Amino acid sequence: MANELKYEWSLAYRVEHWVRVIAIAVLVFTGFYIHWPFITGGAEGAVMSWMRFFHSVAAYALVLGLIVRVYMALNSTFDRDWKDFSITKNLKDLPDMLAYYLFVNDTHKDYRKYNPLQALAYLFIAALIIFTTLTGAALYKGNAFGFINAAESFRWVNTMLGGESYTRIWHFLSMWVFLIFVGVHVYMSLLQAAVNKDKTFMSIFTGYKLKKTS
Ligand code: HEM
Repeated sequence: MANELKYEWSLAYRVEHWVRVIAIAVLVFTGFYIHWPFITGGAEGAVMSWMRFFHSVAAYALVLGLIVRVYMALNSTFDRDWKDFSITKNLKDLPDMLAYYLFVNDTHKDYRKYNPLQALAYLFIAALIIFTTLTGAALYKGNAFGFINAAESFRWVNTMLGGESYTRIWHFLSMWVFLIFVGVHVYMSLLQAAVNKDKTFMSIFTGYKLKKTS
């Protein structure tokens, strides 16, 4: 069986991926600080103001990254991959992939770019980004872009979740879901690279992956 290097991720895809990773790292670090101020200076000190500032800057980067990613899925000249994210198609193929992961079958069908579990996980992460941003915006007391009164505009989120204290709990829980996703995601990329010897892990750095040609 022959393999050849295929250019899987253009620079735009890779940059967007790493912007997202940095944004999540900053959000988790600063979010932990806002939750539990571990550096002296206390809850109201200058360190806290900076942590809050970087928390919102990273949140803007994360949302912008998602908007850019959706745009690329629909309009990229490199690879318009929106069709790979069809929920019905991926749910239909899910048993095939689960049977493989649960050691029921030794092989699975060939998928163009994302296996069904992967595509559904990425869609879930996109939804989680929206949910976490909305709950974060509802907790924010200042003005977004200097003129949108966040507390007013996102009050409906607090109402839907049963009050601000619930919004805070959901916001905090969603961070843990991100952390669990990252752990599983990195593990799966390493596993796939080790089992299939197809350079999956390195592909998000270099852009290139080994693909079967016959
Ligand atoms: C240190 C952290 C991370 C590493 C090492 C990493 C690694 C990778 C690798 C190797 C791929 C390529 C997978 C393949 O070709 O099948 C990939 C793709 C992807 N990763 Fe990550 N990842 C990290 C963090 C994240 C985070 C935090 C998110 C989302 C919150 C994420 C979302 C995605 C998505 C959506 C793709 C598909 C490509 C795209 O749509 O841009 N990753 N990642």
